[in-house]
Formats: sequence, structure tokens, C-alpha cells
Amino acid sequence: MNRFLTFALFALLFCSVSESSNLIKSDKPGDFDFYLFVQQWIYSYCESTSCIQSKIKEAFTIHGLWPENKNGSYPSFCSGPSFNVNDVKNLEDQLNIDWISLTETNEDFWSSEFSKHGTCAINNNNIVNGTFEYFQAGIDLYQKLNLTQALESENIYPSSKSISASNIVSAIQNQFGGKPGMQCEDSKLSTIAMCIDKDDLSIIDCPDLDGWSCDGDIQWPSKY
Ligand SMILES: *[C@@H]1O[C@H](CO)[C@@H](O)[C@H](O)[C@H]1NC(C)=O
Ligand SMILES: *[C@@H]1O[C@H](CO)[C@@H](O)[C@H](O)[C@H]1NC(C)=O
Ligand SMILES: *[C@@H]1O[C@H](CO)[C@@H](O)[C@H](O)[C@H]1NC(C)=O
Repeated sequence: MNRFLTFALFALLFCSVSESSNLIKSDKPGDFDFYLFVQQWIYSYCESTSCIQSKIKEAFTIHGLWPENKNGSYPSFCSGPSFNVNDVKNLEDQLNIDWISLTETNEDFWSSEFSKHGTCAINNNNIVNGTFEYFQAGIDLYQKLNLTQALESENIYPSSKSISASNIVSAIQNQFGGKPGMQCEDSKLSTIAMCIDKDDLSIIDCPDLDGWSCDGDIQWPSKY
């Protein structure tokens, strides 16, 4: 082998080794404090993201079930199985209603949510002990935590009028018995997260997390 070829081979080997070591993560599955169950208001979300038009409707939809720590850090891309749609076959019809992607195929969305968050959520000693159980937990929480219904029960409706962010927080707290986290874009409510106990999936108060509160008057928009 001539010298150049040897050098080229070494360079190739070295580069691929150092690249893959960037991907090795120390985050361990099951090592976190609680879950954030994250739902997005489609109208607000799709204002800043280019969404598939036919999927835009007046609703909150599931973004994800995310392992989170009290200090605001969170594990991601943990080791474990990769997403296999066969693992959720019996849930697929429901997932296609509840856990839709607004920008790509639903299956691609489930796959990316699972590799980033689901792999870290799974804990063998827990309710969420596999891929099926992870997505089942998401669906169950979505049915249980109907944000539209909760807000409407407190006489808050989607509207072009402003409402104070703290009124929305108290309304949800009244209905669900736990303090939510909230995100706004351009003073429009875009995301609500409920904090969920990792052992029994009950609702807990969200701690103060950076980036999870809205200030002042905001809108829960009734239009896209
Ligand atoms: C945050 O909390 C987690 C879990 O308790 C811990 O592993 C991590 O080191 C903490 N990170 C910081 C920046 O304090
Ligand atoms: C998860 O736990 C349930 C109930 O204990 C069990 O039936 C199921 O096989 C477990 N799933 C996995 C993937 O370990
Ligand atoms: C949530 O409640 C609203 C208003 O009551 C209802 O239209 C909607 O179908 C409910 N969503 C789910 C997922 O049950």
C-alpha cells in the first residue's frame, strides 16, 4: 500500500471514530425527576412553523412526554431500543388521532419523539417500561388532561381578546390540581405542560422551570 493510501485510511478511520464518540451519550434511561406532558395549541404553533394545512384545526395536540429534572436539565437520546412501529400497532389508530405531527408523517414524529425522549423515559421498574407503554401513557394523559375542556369549564374560551397568563395558570390548577408550565410566542399561548409523577403518573405541581412561563396579558387565539 502506498503511503498516501495508508494515510487516507488512517484519516478515515480516525474521523469516523471521533464522530461516533460524539454521539455516545451518558444519559441513562429512567434517570430523571418527573415527566412533562406537553400539548401544543395548533393555531399558535403553526403561526411560526410551516404546518401541513390539512392538519390545522382548533385543538391542543400532544407534543410529547418528556423526562425532566427539577433543575431544568433533561436527559435525551438514551440507550435502548429504537422506535419500531410494530411495537405500537394496537395503538396506531388512536395515535393517529391524538399524537399527530403537523409537519411530517405521524410515524416520523413518533420515531423522533421516541429516540429523543422515550428512550430516556423507559424504566423497567416503572409503569413506562417499554415502547408500547410509553405511547399508551401519552394517550392516557391526553384523554385525562383535556385542556380545552378544563379552560372552558373555567369560562375561558379561545378568543381574540387578551387574558392574563396567571388566570390561565389558576384555571388549569383548579381543574387538574397541579400547576402547569406554559409557553407563549408573540404573547400567544402556544404550549402547556403538565408535570407528571414518574412512578404513578399522577399530576404534580410543576416547579419553576426556565422558559416555562408566560407573563402579562396573552391571547388564546381562536384563529390561525
Ligand atoms: C440536575 O439534576 C439532575 C438529576 O437530579 C442531575 O443529574 C444533574 O447533574 C443536575 N444538573 C445540574 C446542572 O445541576
Ligand atoms: C411492562 O410491565 C407489564 C406489567 O408488569 C408487563 O406485562 C410487560 O410485559 C412489561 N413490558 C416490558 C416491555 O417489559
Ligand atoms: C376535549 O374537550 C373538547 C371540549 O369539550 C372536546 O371538543 C374535545 O373533543 C375533547 N378532546 C378529547 C381528546 O377528548
